[in-house]
Amino acid sequence: MATKGTDYECSECGRRTPQWSGRCPDCGEWNSLEEVVPEEDEPRTTREPDDVEACTLQQVSWDRRPRMSTGTGEFDRVLGGGLLRGSTILLGGEPGVGKSTIVLQSLGQMAGERKCLYMACEESLPQVKLRARRLDVEDSSLVVSGETDLEAICHLLEREDPDVVVVDSVQMVSAEGIDSLPGSLKQLRTCGGELIRRAKKRGTALILVGHATKQGAIAGPRALEHLVDAVLYFESENFQALRVLRAVKNRFGPANEVGVFEMASGGLEEVLNPSEFFLSEREAASAGSAVTSTVEGSRALLLETQALVVPGAYGTPERRVTGADRRRVSMLLAVLQRRAGLDLLDCDVFVNVAGGVSVQEPGADLALALAIASGFQDRPFAPEMVAVGEVGLGGEVRGVGRMEERMKEAQRLGFERVMMPAGVRVDGDDMDLDLTRVKTLDQALAAAVGS
Ligand code: TYD
Ligand code: MG
Repeated sequence: MATKGTDYECSECGRRTPQWSGRCPDCGEWNSLEEVVPEEDEPRTTREPDDVEACTLQQVSWDRRPRMSTGTGEFDRVLGGGLLRGSTILLGGEPGVGKSTIVLQSLGQMAGERKCLYMACEESLPQVKLRARRLDVEDSSLVVSGETDLEAICHLLEREDPDVVVVDSVQMVSAEGIDSLPGSLKQLRTCGGELIRRAKKRGTALILVGHATKQGAIAGPRALEHLVDAVLYFESENFQALRVLRAVKNRFGPANEVGVFEMASGGLEEVLNPSEFFLSEREAASAGSAVTSTVEGSRALLLETQALVVPGAYGTPERRVTGADRRRVSMLLAVLQRRAGLDLLDCDVFVNVAGGVSVQEPGADLALALAIASGFQDRPFAPEMVAVGEVGLGGEVRGVGRMEERMKEAQRLGFERVMMPAGVRVDGDDMDLDLTRVKTLDQALAAAVGS
């Protein structure tokens, strides 16, 4: 029986609730809620009033040391222009996505100029050497260690005094005297928290690598998200060669910044022109396809949205979405049904964002809706057009930000026409684009079909 003050904590995400249930209300994991005994009040420390420090913001000195380049432009971009001293970063992603590869590759390149320490907590040192050979950094002066004990790592931090340290992965680190397994929430909080505290104090840049579950959340290490300066997430759809590194939080750079990589036999290669890459296999005049220009962090990306709409066989129609938000697509289907009169109720609908990348902003709504409508009618819509806009529940097409950047990227890749919300003011005088302004989804469909 629960006594007063008893809480239950999810061992996956750390969510606390006063009520036990079979499934965590936050992360949805089954059977993960465990009773936590209320901690005793910490003994109060006695501090002398004069001993407490504070100063005016004016008196705080600047840290003018430049950011440290990782040697990989796309990684630097996602970090906000390189690694900042004393910053702490959580790098999450599913096993096998390439976390160890990117950190080893970067550290190997940085080691010539900076002192770098790689804590290989999951692999043996010969394995690391083998990987380093593939990545062509096997002769670097990078310091590597296989220690997994918190105290040992702290000693190494003192002794080696590195500029950058990577702990791969934080789930393997354990502290003496804590009676739970490595990777448990308790160990993570203690070890992650202590490493972050020490790195901050020393001015060392710290990257904590953490594994994530299929749901996409950095399970477990999520408990560290609020402690670190940046949370980067490495993602890949179906483990195609393409990898997208995304900053979901960054105290020192634009959030939602993305870096695009391709996994090759010699490690991760930067994709310097992602829009071209994403559109490279596009069949211009095919049904069920529409191109959007989306902004991720500091740059615009052109993406092809695709939809296949076929009559459902029987029962509940199938709805499959890859690379876009499923709920958003459901909403678009409902809006198309009600506001544009497309009878999609009994159709199986498959939606995909080509190239294995995911789009998360509402500016892609219009293109998704056009792709679905074009798929439904099974004929191509204006192939040389890029569509941008949010679609509201009333079927209205709403404005989205940073339109000029989106238009520039469309023009750069040779598109001649942009369909956009009527209400958005843009300064596009220097652009040679034909603008189709639409207020509603109905107008958008009419304009797309009629051309
Ligand atoms: P890895 O970095 O070990 O993933 P993580 O640390 O996120 O678990 O990535 C391993 C995958 O990458 C594995 O499937 C092999 C592949 N790979 C290459 O294709 N080329 C390479 O040069 C390297 C090092 C790995
Ligand atoms: Mg790894």
